[in-house]
Amino acid sequence: MRSYQLVGAAALLVKAASVAQGLADSPVDCSLKSAPKRPFSDADVANIRKYFEANLDVQGSGMVVASPDHALHYDYAWTRDGALCMHALQLTTKNLTAIEGKMDSWMSWVERSLDEPDPNAGTIALNEPKFTIPDGKPYTGPWCRPQNDGPGLRAITLMAYAHTRKEAVRQRAWTVVERELDWIVANYTSNGCDLWEEVQSNDFFWVRYTMRKALYQGSVFAETIANDIRRAASYKKKADEITQNLSRHITNDGWVFESENRKVDTAVIEAFNVGDMDDGMFAPLSHEVVRTLAELSRAFCGAFQLNQETAKADMPGVLFGRYPGDSYFGGNPWILLSASAATLLYRQAKALSNGATIEPATETVLEGLLGQKVAVSSLLGGGDAILNLVRKYLTNGMHMNEQIDRKSGELRSATDLTWNYANVLKAMHVRDSVSDLIPATVVV
Ligand SMILES: *[C@@H]1O[C@H](CO)[C@@H](O)[C@H](O)[C@H]1NC(C)=O
Ligand SMILES: *[C@@H]1O[C@H](CO)[C@@H](O)[C@H](O)[C@H]1NC(C)=O
Ligand SMILES: *[C@@H]1O[C@H](CO)[C@@H](O)[C@H](O)[C@H]1NC(C)=O
Repeated sequence: MRSYQLVGAAALLVKAASVAQGLADSPVDCSLKSAPKRPFSDADVANIRKYFEANLDVQGSGMVVASPDHALHYDYAWTRDGALCMHALQLTTKNLTAIEGKMDSWMSWVERSLDEPDPNAGTIALNEPKFTIPDGKPYTGPWCRPQNDGPGLRAITLMAYAHTRKEAVRQRAWTVVERELDWIVANYTSNGCDLWEEVQSNDFFWVRYTMRKALYQGSVFAETIANDIRRAASYKKKADEITQNLSRHITNDGWVFESENRKVDTAVIEAFNVGDMDDGMFAPLSHEVVRTLAELSRAFCGAFQLNQETAKADMPGVLFGRYPGDSYFGGNPWILLSASAATLLYRQAKALSNGATIEPATETVLEGLLGQKVAVSSLLGGGDAILNLVRKYLTNGMHMNEQIDRKSGELRSATDLTWNYANVLKAMHVRDSVSDLIPATVVV
């Protein structure tokens, strides 16, 4: 996420190190073949939740700290991370009354931030990526900006919250959502930085697919909450337009690329999870989603010595990084993305158990990835293989740094990354909803 801050000598050093890490032997195929084995106990999940919540509503500001790591300069509020984490909080909480305080505080912060004066002129842009805590001022140092995923992600989280609350909260949410979505309608094809803050494009899959969801949900919200028929129609029209163009992100080989200048990228898997609306577009068992997962798994299996050692030891599991050739902190597996891949496998298990069908050609690809026949239990086992491998490298209780060293397996980069906790909690949430559906004898 933060390689933008690595400049000059530090960046060169990291690059040299990653070049020197070539693999001596020819790569061995990784496998996800595993029986289901719940990767985190209830006690583990409770700890993860504790570390997660500690990074929300920091000092009562409503803001989410990306990581408390001050030495690495992660102790800021990123628009994207905050929206994703507050959405994860709602998804993974049974008693919504218990999180009302945190959600209200976050909503107040979003309201405040949109009217924050810009250091240059007017109020700040809706696509400003990063703010200081606790004063809520836009970060003024050099940065990769703007980042156009913020408005859609914030709107999705606010709408999810509004649906669980009373009329007054809904009206407040609408006031913000309307601005976010009007911004998307006017500006969705504008240039911006990717979620890793490295490359620029006006057409990232991550940005477009999540905007699409915000607009479709917003269309219903506009009609039902605000009785604003004109906006409802305009949001739907833009969402339809984005939908049409999204198919241009599918390669001739059938997998989905992030952008022309950064094709192979696990951001796409995170997008499949975050942007899905259960409407058949990039459904978990569709050919392009399965092909993308297989493609990325193959790429990272060969790229990381840690994955190769796992495969050579006949152990299941693959750790996922951001993209092949990453050099930030040496270019390592990321916990949040490994959790995202596991979540996708769990969602595939859920879809299958709900009766989704799978094309024969797609089934062949998935069978190759799983190393066994496609079934609810083998898909659960595949996700478990990934998360059990992550767990193996957690050496400080359930504390999770951003990355796991590609060679040594040591925890690397920022400590207690909030997005990690969000994604592991979401993975376990989906997993538990599936394992509840199948006979206890099949699930460990
Ligand atoms: C839900 O949380 C609220 C606030 O923390 C608490 O008062 C209430 O007892 C909880 N309800 C249940 C069913 O646990
Ligand atoms: C679109 O972006 C421009 C430039 O940042 C901004 O001035 C404008 O207000 C945005 N449009 C809407 C409707 O928010
Ligand atoms: C949509 O795709 C067409 C080509 O199929 C392209 O010309 C157009 O610029 C795209 N529009 C957007 C908004 O990306």
